[in-house]
Amino acid sequence: MPFSLSTKLRLSQIAKASCVVAALSVGFAISAQAQEKKYMSLADQMIQDMKDGKIAPPGAEDHVVQELIIKRNIPITYKYINTLMNTPNAFGPGVACTVCHNSNDPSKSYRGLDLSTCKGMIEGATEKPKHVVFTPGTNPKRDPLVRRLRNNRMPLGMSFDNPTYTANHILVKNWIDSGAKNDDNFQKNVLPLFKTANAFGPESPACTACHMSNQEPPSFHELNLSTHAGILLGADSIAKGVDKATKVIIPGNSSLSFVWQHLSEDRMPPGIAPSEPRDHPNTTILATWIKQGAKCD
Ligand code: HEC
Ligand code: HEC
Repeated sequence: MPFSLSTKLRLSQIAKASCVVAALSVGFAISAQAQEKKYMSLADQMIQDMKDGKIAPPGAEDHVVQELIIKRNIPITYKYINTLMNTPNAFGPGVACTVCHNSNDPSKSYRGLDLSTCKGMIEGATEKPKHVVFTPGTNPKRDPLVRRLRNNRMPLGMSFDNPTYTANHILVKNWIDSGAKNDDNFQKNVLPLFKTANAFGPESPACTACHMSNQEPPSFHELNLSTHAGILLGADSIAKGVDKATKVIIPGNSSLSFVWQHLSEDRMPPGIAPSEPRDHPNTTILATWIKQGAKCD
């Protein structure tokens, strides 16, 4: 196991402190030597991991970031995050985030979300309904900031200029908020929407064209949107096991339900193609900054 940077820092501090005491105590001198031996630079750790076959083979888009930054717990600076927010194409083709999110005044900046300062990022969307877009120190994968960078709007390929509040969208939202029951309303009004092309916008396939059973392939994420049981069971029930399947409906709470999130939220920057990698290296770095506590200095 390579040492994290903070462990190394502690070790070198212990080693230094021990050196002073060493003049007085032979016992300490021996332990200082032992600590010194354990110290490895980042480059040394990398070489050792290569020798031990611990560097994963390439494949993932964020391979380099995973192997050389995340695994070694290199602290991500706010300065870098600020650069990302101000740079075009930072997460895939598109204009910079701060062109559209640069103030907490919702008349000038979408959702009153200010991604141009650290304070603004932590404050989140200030237009009603107000909410934070991540929580420092936690995994942000399912929080608005990172999911907007990773999750494609459904049906896959649906672009941002199609409304997310059509009568059919509202039928799904209300069904979730009123408990997601297998009742007459569901069978007559909601289930057919998942099975019909163009239900949520023009020239779009039915959800069940891609999510029709719990076998992948052909069904993306082993998600079956063709029955009530399948919808409530959720995604990846074979890969993860039925008990750990990813719930896509939280009865009574549409905003936490992945089905509603995927129907109503556009991936950022708007217009980005769904084929653009979802694990962009800079998305991984942004998520790591948040996990590390979203420090502003
Ligand atoms: C061309 C303008 C534009 C750009 C560029 C843009 N956004 Fe957005 N963003 C929007 C709009 C419009 C909305 C609100 C509509 C919606 O929810 O899709 C939004 C919503 C969001 C939200 C949801 C806030 C909430 O209420 O939870 C987040 C998070 C977000 N954007 C992040 C980003 C990030 C990160 C980038 C840079 C990769 C970015 N946006 C680039 C226009 C933009
Ligand atoms: C053309 C194929 C296609 C269609 C049509 C489609 N999806 Fe998807 N769906 C995908 C893919 C691919 C993913 C993988 C994640 C991504 O791209 O964001 C996905 C992911 C999802 C997820 C997330 C599952 C998870 O494990 O978190 C949900 C929920 C979802 N789709 C719902 C829907 C709904 C509802 C519809 C219809 C409105 C729909 N999909 C239509 C291809 C499709």
